[in-house]
Amino acid sequence: MTAMRKKVSILGAGNVGASIAQLIARDGIADIVLYDIAEGLPQGKALDLAEACPLWNSSVSVKGTNSYDDIAHSDILVVTAGFPRKPGMSRDDLLQANADVVRHVVGEASKKSRHAFIIVVTNPMDVMAQLAWKISGFDHQKVLGMGGVLDSTRFRTFVSLELGVSAVDVEALVMGGHGDQMVPMPRFTTVKGVPITKMLSPAKITSIIERTRTGGAEIVSLLKAGSAYYAPAAATYQMIRAIVFDERRILPCAAYLTGQYGVRHIYVGVPVVLGKDGIEQVIELELNEQEKKDFDKSLSAVTALLEKIAI
Ligand code: NAI
Ligand code: 2OP
Repeated sequence: MTAMRKKVSILGAGNVGASIAQLIARDGIADIVLYDIAEGLPQGKALDLAEACPLWNSSVSVKGTNSYDDIAHSDILVVTAGFPRKPGMSRDDLLQANADVVRHVVGEASKKSRHAFIIVVTNPMDVMAQLAWKISGFDHQKVLGMGGVLDSTRFRTFVSLELGVSAVDVEALVMGGHGDQMVPMPRFTTVKGVPITKMLSPAKITSIIERTRTGGAEIVSLLKAGSAYYAPAAATYQMIRAIVFDERRILPCAAYLTGQYGVRHIYVGVPVVLGKDGIEQVIELELNEQEKKDFDKSLSAVTALLEKIAI
């Protein structure tokens, strides 16, 4: 007898949520529930995906729903529900509106799935991860946020474009909050083991760092309506796989810190070991003075947002 198939519930069947569902369904790694407040939308996308499964030789079930009952006994809850920024909306408006959504969605879903992991995607992500942890009452090892994997894959892409080598051979690390103050780490970014500081000029590295920091905005300005979803979905999927297959991948995730990097009781992006128990270890790198300064600045941006919502 093989183990039972896992159940992944995706809360928010928008661009990111549906794209994550597509990756899970195509690879057939878990049964999927797509939940959304909009009527018909999750049902339509789920049916469309279910109809693709025969072509992918995938036997998983894909269900769309507007009812939290269908979420019961999930192994992983992925939080992608919320609002993107609209014209005239301030960052603070988005913060309050998405905090209300995350509070509600996580409150309901976690009641029905007491043993699940929670992966938070909704922005501002670090703060929403903290909120999801608080609302669910789950162990902090089981609640984490997606941001660093996306920021790092953007960094990898830009390095690969500059050097003309495969992005697969570029390893990169971005730490800190998933916001404008994120901290791309050139000292820990390598091409087949060689630090990029030995391959690119400081000016080039500075411009790649800047492009990474504004990577989300670059896509928004091209799309005009909505934000990135293919790379965000692929990044979230990598985290889901690490848990489902107990891969013990080292990935930058928003994690609850208990003293590491001098931070206590706050979610922010750091490298972790991700496996079947969730965050199995926070990896503490030795940061130099500039890196420490940049990380603290990014942390301040996260705490400033945290102070604006009641958690
Ligand atoms: P979207 O607008 O396509 O989808 C959001 C979905 O949430 C919509 O279908 C909407 O009906 C649903 N929703 C709203 N309120 C809800 C509620 N109370 N209950 C259930 N569903 C609800 O947006 P998209 O592009 O999928 O992005 C989702 C979120 O993820 C946004 O907050 C975005 O900023 C964030 N994001 C974060 C990334 C990261 O790296 N952490 C990367 C990409 C997006
Ligand atoms: C991004 O970085 C919007 O957070 C999202 O693309």
